This record gives sequence, C-alpha cells and structure tokens, in this order.
Amino acid sequence: MTTSFPPHFASALPALLPHPFTGQPYSLHRADQLPAAPARAREIAAVCNEPLVYDRLFRARRQGQPYAAEEAQAFLDWAAAGWQEGTHFVFLLLDADHHVAGALDIKSADLNSAEIGYWLGGAHRGIMTSALNTLIDAAQGAGFQRLWARPDADNTRSVALLERAGFTPYCPLDDLPNTAYFERLLEDSGRSSSR
Ligand SMILES: CC(C)(COP(=O)(O)OP(=O)(O)OC[C@H]1O[C@@H](n2cnc3c(N)ncnc32)[C@H](O)[C@@H]1OP(=O)(O)O)[C@@H](O)C(=O)NCCC(=O)NCCS
Repeated sequence: MTTSFPPHFASALPALLPHPFTGQPYSLHRADQLPAAPARAREIAAVCNEPLVYDRLFRARRQGQPYAAEEAQAFLDWAAAGWQEGTHFVFLLLDADHHVAGALDIKSADLNSAEIGYWLGGAHRGIMTSALNTLIDAAQGAGFQRLWARPDADNTRSVALLERAGFTPYCPLDDLPNTAYFERLLEDSGRSSSR
C-alpha cells in the first residue's frame, strides 16, 4: 500500500558536515531553499561532466553528448517543483566555498518505500557518507520507512557507500540485469500518518 500524504521534512537543514579528511565545512541543503546563485547550474554541469559521474549516470542517456548548463538549470527547476508539489526531494551538497560538490535525492513521496540517488565530484571524496547519513535522518524524520537504491553491480564505490550507510542487499522480484539492489529500513520516528 502506498502512503499518499506528502512527507514533511522538519529536520534541521541546512546541516553542517565537516569533511572527514580535511575538516572543511560542507553543508547539505534542500535544493529549493538555497539562495539564487547564477553559477549553480554551471557548477552542477561541471560535476556531471566528470568522467566518474558522467559515465555512470549520463553517457548512455545523452548518447555521449556533454551535460549542458541548460540541463543543469532544468534539473534545478525540476528539483524546485518536486519540493513545491511534494513529489520528489533533491538535496544539494555545497563545499566550504558554497560551490556545488554533489547532490542526493529521494525520488518519490512513497513513505513505504522510496528510491534514492546521489552523485559527488571527485575532489570531494569522503563527504558523501556523512551526506547520505544526514539524508537518511531527514527521511526518517519525514516518515519514510524504507529507502532503496539500485547501483550498477560493478559500481563498487556506490555499493561501498551504501554499505557504510547501513544498507543491505536484497533481491527484488523484477530485477534488472547488472544491477545490485540495496535497502535500508528506517525505524518509525513516531510521526502520525493521520495528518
Ligand atoms: C557513488 C559516489 C557518490 C561515492 O562517492 P565516494 O567519494 O566514494 O564516497 P564517500 O564520499 O563516502 O568517500 C568514500 C571514502 O571516504 C571514506 N570515508 C567516508 N566517511 C569517512 C569517515 N567518517 N572517516 C573516515 N573515512 C571516511 C571511505 O572509507 C572511503 O574511503 P576509500 O575511498 O579509501 O575506500 C561517487 O563514486 C559518485 O558520485 N559516483 C558516480 C555517480 C554514481 O555512481 N551514483 C550512484 C548511482 S546508484
């Protein structure tokens, strides 16, 4: 059964996240609550064109064409609409200079079971575990009971990240080839479903 009321994210965002290697202050924000910054779309495009991110997430869909700043702006518009309509929830991870380092999202408002995704610029390796743990806390506070992810089976960095964040493998009924499935069950945060 799908729980249909919109999730309510009341947790303390933006969250300040010190980088575990450098101590630099990163921060995790709801994408719709960041002040306007004309450079943000260019920053997103720069990270999404890095080989690690581009090859995993965009090369096939874009048929080898670069990820353009216009697409990044469309992503930001889609992110804002998701928060406004309560349909999907994008978070941006900023570095100490307030430039985009990465992004995470919860792809639906299905509190019973929602897919997550994420990407991170290579210069920031080490901060995504904290960011994902913060996302999990925010999701739990919003009433989500289960999160899941489906990295490519050979995406060892993504699989290791999920395992560090407490996700465990599972086998869905309708699994895709070359895909690993991971889930994390969240304890009931006490939020009432009658609101
Ligand atoms: C998946 C992805 C976000 C993982 O990023 P990542 O940089 O490997 O993850 P983290 O930022 O958590 O950093 C991991 C490293 O930091 C270490 N680390 C993380 N938190 C730490 C902490 N608190 N203390 C010490 N070390 C820590 C980990 O042990 C790991 O070390 P290693 O690289 O030597 O093994 C990144 O590879 C990526 O963007 N890939 C392309 C997009 C993609 O595949 N998305 C997923 C689709 S399902």
